[in-house]
Amino acid sequence: MKPRADWALGSALSLPIKVEEKVLGVINLNRSAAGRAFDQVDLNVASVMAMQAGVSIENALLKDRLREKIDELEAANRRAEDAYRQLLQAEKLSAIGLMAGTVAHDITNPLAVIDGRTQLLMYRFAPDTEAGKSLGAIKAQTDRISSLVKSLQNYARKGKGERRPLNVVDCIEESFVLVGKLLYENAVSTTRRYPETLPLILGNATEVEQIFMNLIQNAGQAMEKGGELILSAEAVEGSSGEGSWVEVTVSDNGPGIPSEALKAVFEPFYTTKPEGKGTGLGLPICKRIIEDHRGEITVESAVGKGTTFRVRFPVTPGETPEKGP
Ligand SMILES: Nc1ncnc2c1ncn2[C@@H]1O[C@H](COP(=O)(O)OP(=O)(O)OP(=O)(O)O)[C@@H](O)[C@H]1O
Ligand SMILES: [Mg+2]
Repeated sequence: MKPRADWALGSALSLPIKVEEKVLGVINLNRSAAGRAFDQVDLNVASVMAMQAGVSIENALLKDRLREKIDELEAANRRAEDAYRQLLQAEKLSAIGLMAGTVAHDITNPLAVIDGRTQLLMYRFAPDTEAGKSLGAIKAQTDRISSLVKSLQNYARKGKGERRPLNVVDCIEESFVLVGKLLYENAVSTTRRYPETLPLILGNATEVEQIFMNLIQNAGQAMEKGGELILSAEAVEGSSGEGSWVEVTVSDNGPGIPSEALKAVFEPFYTTKPEGKGTGLGLPICKRIIEDHRGEITVESAVGKGTTFRVRFPVTPGETPEKGP
């Protein structure tokens, strides 16, 4: 500020503002010659003010530094948590890999023997006899086990089964037959919402059927006291440049999944089913197969209302739509 023309300096005080013994600034106080000169009391009061200014600045700086440190610590903590989660996931995955190897060895070979003998016996008994019917049932179940084992191996070694253009509705219906008994026993009614035509996807039929078998089985198991299963399929356009998709939803009006458990359902070995009833591999296998097919799976659920699993596959470019069943 510029002093007035008639203003003459009488006395002045200069006080350092110190933070951690470093001088950060200076407070200058001037008084005109017309007034009383600064005395010792003024100096004491001004010194206290300068000291308080220093302390305030120091506090502000400390707060900033503390915030920075807290942010750094929080970021480090998040990184550590992510690394731990990845490690846990990797360990679970390698456990599955190991298990798949054992399963391949311990189940595939005896299963081949059962299958071979069953086929031999099937030559001797006509399919409409009592024995023939039983043999047919055994054959159907051994086929199912061997396809399950193959899926587990595919999951562990990132399945690269043969791909061809598929209509997902055929796959849904094929899987539906395999879990039909469970739905019937639990008095679950089924509604289908399929369009007249649906674009084809490029996939491995056994693997894709495996997805829907798991999802329908989960829904059926969830609706122990009856309920409604809704199966739907439709073609959806992705946002610009994303291409189009075939979207399938498997919905039930069972008990739903609490929000804190939703994150865990795709993790290997996560199960809420009694021992012997669930391995907790169904959904991780679905996720692995879907990702192998460059698709996506999401889940929405409300406790007491039900659950919807949504699966999307990219449409095979150039494949013409096919008539629905
Ligand atoms: N439709 C659903 N309704 C309610 N809970 C579900 C549903 N689908 C999955 N879950 C929950 O997710 C868990 C994991 O499912 P996942 O299919 O991976 O394993 P599982 O069914 O327990 O065992 P597995 O499929 O190996 O027999 C289930 O135990 C259940 O708690
Ligand atoms: Mg399951």
